[in-house]
Amino acid sequence: MAENAGADHPARKKVTAPSIGSKKVAEGHEPMVMLTAYDAPGARMASEAGADMILVGDSVAMVVLGYDDTLQVTVDDMAHHTAAVARAKPHCLIVGDLPWMSYHVSAEETVRNAATLIRAGAECVKLEGGRKRLPMIEALIDAEIPVMGHLGLTPQSVHTMGGFKVQGKKADAALALVEDAKALAHAGCFAVVLEGVPVRVAEMITNAIDIPTIGIGAGPHCDGQVLVYHDVLGIEDRFVPKFVRRYADLKSASIDALSQYAADVRSGAFPNDEESYHMGDSEADALGLYGSGER
Ligand code: KIV
Repeated sequence: MAENAGADHPARKKVTAPSIGSKKVAEGHEPMVMLTAYDAPGARMASEAGADMILVGDSVAMVVLGYDDTLQVTVDDMAHHTAAVARAKPHCLIVGDLPWMSYHVSAEETVRNAATLIRAGAECVKLEGGRKRLPMIEALIDAEIPVMGHLGLTPQSVHTMGGFKVQGKKADAALALVEDAKALAHAGCFAVVLEGVPVRVAEMITNAIDIPTIGIGAGPHCDGQVLVYHDVLGIEDRFVPKFVRRYADLKSASIDALSQYAADVRSGAFPNDEESYHMGDSEADALGLYGSGER
């Protein structure tokens, strides 16, 4: 069993953005664990499993809300899910994902939108993109909001990328990602997600910056890993990316359980006597419900 696994202990130290910012594997730290969660039960489970960070990701659009991409969710949607996660009071750092168009128009709008997520319970925000996002990142940090970057396959750019495609496969594109990562680190981001990039590119970036890299589809050389809750647990099965490792098949287990419930209702096996409420005999008699038979 992992050292951190087990029931959430009240004495477990709350993870903060500054405590994450120094955890490089090259400096002797163990790789960090980030999971997405979108509601209170998911946050409780991630926290009790010992995750370091919970990302209230805009992936909620696809794995919970049924959209085909992440572009459909708004700041209000993200605040709604962030608040549910925060109510679980996880020991993990709560990362609020800024949705598409919430940090693209102006630095002022970016800060206001990030503040909505912080007021909902996020303890930092994540945004996608490299050097062109620097004015927004600087404004956020200036407003005392810690920022996690996100480079490589950035799902909010699905139309620009022409699909959910691995990025940085060519040398010049890989070098551009390294420069982006350096710029984010220099601007004051405390960590950066690397999504859908070749192993060697992720390794280059991880070695080039002194803030941790959190990989998803970026190989084993990052300072941590992140996966989507519904992928890890096998709840989402319509599309399983190559980088996902499934640790359970909760969709099948859930369908089995729900089918048994349906069968029991239809056969009359549910509910039984122990699963039902009863009134006292005299009250039942007063209602004339029973003869002298069973109550
Ligand atoms: O929204 C999300 O789940 C993400 C992860 C894939 C990093 O951004």
